[in-house]
Amino acid sequence: MTDFPSQADVLIIGAGAAGLMCASVAGKRGRSVLVLDHANKVGKKILMSGGGRCNFTNLYTAPDNFYSENPHFCKSALARYTQWDFIALVEKHGIPYHEKTLGQLFCDNKSRDIVDLLLAECREAKAQIRTRCEIQRIEPVADESKAKGFEVHTSLGKVVCESLVIATGGLSIPTMGATGFGYDVARQFGHSIVPTRAALVPFTLNQRALERQQELPGTSLAVTASCGEGSFHEQMLFTHKGLSGPSVLQISSHWKKGMPVEFDLVPGLDLPEWLMEQRGKKQESFLHTLLTEFWSKKLVQFFLHRNGLQSKPLKQYGDSELREVGKKLQTWSLIPEGTEGYRTAEVTLGGVNTDEVSSRSMESMKQPGLYFVGEVLDVTGWLGGFNFQWAWASAHAAGGEV
Ligand code: FDA
Repeated sequence: MTDFPSQADVLIIGAGAAGLMCASVAGKRGRSVLVLDHANKVGKKILMSGGGRCNFTNLYTAPDNFYSENPHFCKSALARYTQWDFIALVEKHGIPYHEKTLGQLFCDNKSRDIVDLLLAECREAKAQIRTRCEIQRIEPVADESKAKGFEVHTSLGKVVCESLVIATGGLSIPTMGATGFGYDVARQFGHSIVPTRAALVPFTLNQRALERQQELPGTSLAVTASCGEGSFHEQMLFTHKGLSGPSVLQISSHWKKGMPVEFDLVPGLDLPEWLMEQRGKKQESFLHTLLTEFWSKKLVQFFLHRNGLQSKPLKQYGDSELREVGKKLQTWSLIPEGTEGYRTAEVTLGGVNTDEVSSRSMESMKQPGLYFVGEVLDVTGWLGGFNFQWAWASAHAAGGEV
């Protein structure tokens, strides 16, 4: 390894998705760039993302796919560096990819391809990267009371820089190196933090509920999950701790302790009316047999039992009874005990308040020369490649200015 640089035009803390993208953009403008990370290797979350295949963007990315106290903040950066720009970069590097579902683009091979892409771009931009580097202290350097950059003290030495970019991400998966460092730096310079909580995270259920569903872990079904203003039509998965799957991860971003979550278990169909029609055609059929059109046998038993229903031939149900049975079976409302928390959450909701950051350049309005990019900001995407697209777009915006 070469000597530790004591000076850089741009110092970026965090060698994840946003930090590496920002480094390559700034470096290609001729700025000298140093990226520091405390982890033993770069891009750990990219490597573990998308089940090892990195869902690197979404064809349908739009500002509506993001949560923030200020929903307008993300618009400018997303419009100036779009999903098409990142796809062009992926194609430039010859990385094979495919659309899995709902516009979600995944690598055909491994997430490693995306880390290699970013490292190649950084090499081309002559950006230097150092891992296993602890950041100890940041001091603004003032010259005749005018801000003149920063002095950053680290375990590898001191660096003086003009621009300082905080790209340290959110709090999810601490074992992968996630810390609240970015929020601490923001507070040091007078920023406020929108309260954070784990999102895109499985729900946990109480012991009684878990005992009831003990035959079901691994079973999934298509549902519409709704909570507050959110509603998502995707798969739900029973787990040993509670519920997961894309619909649950998505709706967890709308959920707060104590709120009920509603599942439509036969989305797109009016089950009471459907049962009435079936009774006209298949009078001798048992209810449980008909329900296997939608659910596995185990799920049919579970939903019947949960509602205290016996299965009878359809002809034995009266009109109002059959409609009532259909209504009960169609919806499931429950109050999760909690979530699995940052241990397994994909992202952190909340973060550095975007009212105090320029949406054009990502520069702090409190401290000239200080920038925030990626997940550390109060911008959180839906499941499906949106969080990486935010990392690329916000980093690109800052990289053009630092
Ligand atoms: P990121 O977390 O990538 O990088 C932050 C960097 O800062 C890390 O390298 C970390 O080590 C470093 N750091 C932290 N504290 C530090 C400190 N004190 N000192 C020095 N360095 C420090 N999104 C998506 O769009 N598609 C997907 O498929 C997935 N899949 C996925 C799976 C899993 C399991 C998780 C946990 C997350 C996802 N995500 C995702 C979300 C996505 O990974 C996330 O939004 C981006 O990585 C955020 O990029 P950042 O660069 O902001 O942070």
